Amino acid sequence: MIIKNAALETVCGITSKLPDNRLPEVAFAGKSNVGKSSLINALLNRKALARTSSQPGKTQTINFYNVNDSLYFVDLPGYGYAQVSREIRAKWGQMIERYLNRSTQLKRVFLLIDIRHEPSENDCMMYNWIISKGYEPVIILTKLDKLKRSQVDKMVSTIKKKLQPVPGTVIIKFSAQTKQGRDEILNLIEGTITES
Ligand code: GTP
Ligand code: MG
Repeated sequence: MIIKNAALETVCGITSKLPDNRLPEVAFAGKSNVGKSSLINALLNRKALARTSSQPGKTQTINFYNVNDSLYFVDLPGYGYAQVSREIRAKWGQMIERYLNRSTQLKRVFLLIDIRHEPSENDCMMYNWIISKGYEPVIILTKLDKLKRSQVDKMVSTIKKKLQPVPGTVIIKFSAQTKQGRDEILNLIEGTITES
């Protein structure tokens, strides 16, 4: 897939109505700070279209990026961010849940997991929940550049052991810094929307 143009089109907060989109959507979910917004920038070849931060909890709304006027990339707030109140965390959770439950245009959910760490209980819950909603999540293991090469296979095994992905689950290793994995993800997205 070649990116011709991309723009932030809709921003949805806790109380906003979800957009009535007609184009297909692909969404990026994962723990706070895992690199969802950075992945979107890397895919779109943009440095800072999606706002990123070294502090977790940067994205607090559901952001719809119109790509090539043919689909949306949906940047979700991260879960599991301990520094916000339980009440706000629950609201973000509800917002993500509402989106995943209600979107009629959502074709694929990418679940991002930091390649350096064993998945959290929240990651496992999210993975199983996405499956229970009828989606086949694609796992993206982020921040590949931060792991020594000799550790990569070991961490992939550790992650699989904990997550217990269903057979056939696609797992892609990715780095927003080196862009490794970018073409594979874009090809998968292209396949997803041409199927639909
Ligand atoms: P929330 O919006 O808070 O949920 O976070 P997010 O998942 O959108 O993460 P974001 O893209 O803002 O990235 C968090 C931090 O990780 C930033 O400091 C990024 O620069 C850094 N980061 C993201 N991806 C990579 C990567 O592949 N390699 C390295 N080295 N750093 C990364
Ligand atoms: Mg973000």
